[in-house]
Amino acid sequence: MAKVLYPGSFDPIHLGHVDIIDQAARLFGHVVIAILHNPEKHGGVFTVDQRRNLIHGALAGGPSEGRFSVIAHPGLAVDAAKAADADFIVKGLRNSGDFEIEQQMAHTNLAVAGVPTVYLPSSPERSSVSSRFVREIAQYGGDPSSMVPANVASALKEIFA
Ligand code: PNS
Repeated sequence: MAKVLYPGSFDPIHLGHVDIIDQAARLFGHVVIAILHNPEKHGGVFTVDQRRNLIHGALAGGPSEGRFSVIAHPGLAVDAAKAADADFIVKGLRNSGDFEIEQQMAHTNLAVAGVPTVYLPSSPERSSVSSRFVREIAQYGGDPSSMVPANVASALKEIFA
């Protein structure tokens, strides 16, 4: 079976990510989840270690349990794919805006590094979930719990209390 890499910032993991991970695990057997980060600046809400723990907590007991691993990688998605010995990158598409951006990245990643990308459509009920909206809602005292796993909702509540 092919080995696939699902890259993202996962700051934090949300239900849209979980949807794509579950689909990829079902299709390809195992998914390497890559937290891409810039080691020179910690601009995010959660540290890389916290993101990793939140991913493990979010997927525990779900359909992908035992069928994923998590790595953290500074820099390019293609280098993460090579480090993980992945055959290709998986990306989720929510809408045509995602397609525009992802298609450009996919073409570039294939051209510069020979790493192909496959797209998985998001489930319709997850098509408006984004990490940025989750962060903004939590930051301004709103309730993002319909968009994130329960452990992430608790972690956000703690951070922005
Ligand atoms: O969860 P996000 O923030 O939507 O993830 C976006 C991410 C990190 C997957 C994307 O920006 C990416 O692949 N960044 C890595 C940098 C890279 O490989 N750049 C070259 C693209 S052609």
